This record gives sequence, structure tokens and C-alpha cells, in this order.
Amino acid sequence: MTKKLFVKTYGCQMNVYDSARMADVLAPLGYGPGDSPEDADMVILNTCHIREKASEKVFSELGRLRQIKTEKDGGLIIAVAGCVAQAEGEEILRRAPFVDIVLGPQTYHRLPEMVAQASRAALANGNGGAVLDTEFPIEPKFDHLPEPRADGPAAFLSVQEGCDKFCTFCVVPYTRGGEYSRPSQAILDEAKKLVDQGVVEITLLGQNVNAWHGDDGKSFGWLIRQLAKLDGLERIRFTTSHPRDMDDDLIDAHGEVKKLMPFLHLPVQAGSNRMLEAMNRRHDRDFYFGLVDKLRAARPDLALSSDFIVGFPGETDADFADTLDLVRRVGFVNTYSFKYSARPGTPAAIMPNQVDEAVKEARLAQLMDLLQEQTNHFNQNCLGMEMAVVLDRQGKYPGQLIGRSPYMQPVHVDNVAHLAGHLVNVRISEIHPRSLKGEIIEAERMRA
Ligand code: SAH
Ligand code: SF4
Ligand code: F3S
Repeated sequence: MTKKLFVKTYGCQMNVYDSARMADVLAPLGYGPGDSPEDADMVILNTCHIREKASEKVFSELGRLRQIKTEKDGGLIIAVAGCVAQAEGEEILRRAPFVDIVLGPQTYHRLPEMVAQASRAALANGNGGAVLDTEFPIEPKFDHLPEPRADGPAAFLSVQEGCDKFCTFCVVPYTRGGEYSRPSQAILDEAKKLVDQGVVEITLLGQNVNAWHGDDGKSFGWLIRQLAKLDGLERIRFTTSHPRDMDDDLIDAHGEVKKLMPFLHLPVQAGSNRMLEAMNRRHDRDFYFGLVDKLRAARPDLALSSDFIVGFPGETDADFADTLDLVRRVGFVNTYSFKYSARPGTPAAIMPNQVDEAVKEARLAQLMDLLQEQTNHFNQNCLGMEMAVVLDRQGKYPGQLIGRSPYMQPVHVDNVAHLAGHLVNVRISEIHPRSLKGEIIEAERMRA
């Protein structure tokens, strides 16, 4: 009998990748995908610690799972994985003793042993005897993961983990550990296996993906050029990059590698030099402008997106005005902005001059308006354009599919059920607030 696994994922794409890999690891134990916690034998919450709101969700979700577990007479394994587990493992077990397994982002290759151990404990004492594994093992998990299973035409591939940058607001260096680059051969092998399963688009992932370097000092630009040689792979993306690691070779790759999509997420966080310094971002605004100029010279149609934090400790109206000015000068699409959230254990959390919640709120609204305006403007300019779209998701209506444009815009296309999973050329016929509509010009690639 197959057992059912339900994984709920919070946070960034690395967590999405990890969730898929956890499912891969548990498949040999007989776990297949379940639709809800109610019909599952095991639930994994893959958690995110980046902002207070993200972390809080875990405990409210656990309350709900507790009830389901009781209704099932204990017949539900509950695991908490990811960055909250890493940061607050003990706390989770204290506040939620019905949790069976707590595991960090670097140990999920050991899930089968953890499940066995938790099941033995449940048999022996009815409940209790939870497993906690939040180590940073010396041998990376990647060496112990099974073959990746593709799920559709677009796939994520983690190439780099962790972070050594220590921005003063950020928990990632603590939850994910230090920087680690996977060996190039392992990455190229994984990419090949994905392409053999019909994948046409790969997004390379890392907390600082462009800090990736090969065992022999090879650069991230080199890795992209190697991947581009893979027959059948049509599109390459990567996220998230740090401005400091955007070297000339990688910038050149944007001009030279056709398969590299003309969209780059390059978070800057703030526009004021004072704030960039206090955040320990290791560059100033002119450095960022310089990068943008070089990138646009290499690839004139490049669309840029970013992340911003408003209300970092000490941020004044003048600092915030610098952020608005930077946004106007660069021009972004699809950009995220957040109110600063004080995270326990990070230097910024104990800085003086924490900004008032109401001020943060007002600045966020103003920044989001400007960013939305820029996104709308960019989208309007796409009317009538021809672009290639990988149709990888079901739409709202029967026969409708949704895919991503080269610039990461969602594009919906009607009456194309037969083209699911294909890379097609469309002409943009309508601009909607959150998506574009496309009409098929030709089905460029036929793939099962
Ligand atoms: N490595 C990436 C970011 C990873 S976290 C980079 O360096 O850009 C994703 C985003 O969450 C960050 O870019 C930042 O904008 C936001 N973020 C991180 N910590 C935060 C905090 N304490 N409060 C609010 N936003 C935060
Ligand atoms: Fe966090 Fe900064 Fe590292 Fe990005 S570069 S993960 S924001 S510490
Ligand atoms: Fe969140 Fe961890 Fe990603 S804190 S943003 S899930 S690296």
C-alpha cells in the first residue's frame, strides 16, 4: 500500500527545491503525493524564518495539524523542516511536543532513518521521542540524494547553498550555514537528467547563486556556458544574485548566451549609501548603477527586478527618498518590497532607532505604488510583442494554460490543452493586471 506525503512549503525557491527532493528521498519508502494533511500519513512543513510573519505561520499551522493527528488517533507523522526548524528546533519541540521530526535544511537526505526512528518511538511510547537533526554535516546532502524526478518542463536546480555575507538584517547565514558550491560535474549531470525527462527550462538556485565557483576556481559564467551546450535545454535562469558577485564574465554571458533569459533578479535592498552601509551590503549605490549600465550594454532588453527593505533601523525620510530615486533611475519589473522585520540574533535587531511601524507602513505603500507603476508600464509595452512561453501550468479555465515569458511574466493562452509542457511562440494580445494574454503563433517545440 502506498502511503501519502503532504509537503507544505514556505519561503524561497530553495525551499521549493528542497521540498521536491524530500519527496524524492521518501519515495523509496512508499510515500506518494497526497492532496491534503487530512488524507496524508506524513506531513512536512518546510518553513521559512526570513521575517517574523513567515515564522509565526508555522506555529498556527502546527495547531491545525495537532487536531488532525488527534482525529487520526496519532496516525500521522509530523515533520518540521527548513529554516525555522534550523533556528528554533528545540523551541518547536517544546511548544509542539506532538511533532515527530525536526530537521534542518542540510540533513534531509537522512529522512528515511528519521522516519524509522520516529515510528519506533511512537510504537514504544504511543507518542513522544521526537527526532531532532539540525546538524550541518561535513558531507553535503547532495552526495546522498536520489536521482531528481522532473515535474513538468521547468525545473529548479540548487547549485549553491548558504551565505557568508552577513547582511545585518538577515537570518540566512545562520539558518543555511556558510557558502557551499556544488561541484560542476554533479550540477551538469543533474541538468542532463532533467533534460532527459523533458525539462526545457532550468533555474539555477542559491542564496547567493552567483557566488558559485567550481572546485578549480571556475566561475558562474563558465557554468552557464557549459549548461547552454546541453541539447534540449532551451532556457537558463538563476536566482538570487548578489551585486558584489556580479563579475564581468557573468555580465558578458548575458550578452553571449542566447539561452540565458533576459531577466535578472538583483536585489539592492535600499538606495541610500548610509543604509547600504548599515545593512553591510558591501557596495554603494553608484556600484549598483554601474552594474546596471554594464548589464544593459551587454543585453539591452534585460529586465531587472530587486528586493527592497523599508524601515531599516535609522532610515530617515531622506534615506527613503534615495530608495525611490534609485528605483526611478533603474526601472524594475516584478519587484518585492518588505517592511524591515527584526530577527532574533541578527545585529540589526538590537540597533537603536528602530523605525515606527506606521512609518514603515507608509513607506512600503509608496514604494509598492511606484514599483507597480513600473511593472504596469513594462507590461503595457509588451502588447503586440512576440515571445516564447513554456506552458507549464493549468489555467483557471478548461483548456487554458499558463507559462512564463522570458521576462518572467505569467502569460495565459486559451484552448491549448494539447500543448501542455511545450515551448510555444505567442503574440501578446491583452494586458491584465497580473498576467498577459497570448495567442499562439506556432508551436515551436513538440515535447511530451
Ligand atoms: N540572498 C538574497 C536574499 C535572500 S532573502 C540577497 O542577498 O539579496 C530574500 C529577501 O528577503 C531579501 O532580499 C530581503 O529583501 C528580504 N529580507 C531578508 N531579511 C529581512 C528582514 N529581516 N526584514 C525584512 N525583509 C527581509
Ligand atoms: Fe541574507 Fe545578505 Fe546573505 Fe542575501 S547576501 S542571504 S540578504 S545575508
Ligand atoms: Fe526563508 Fe530559509 Fe529561504 S529563511 S527565504 S526559506 S533560505
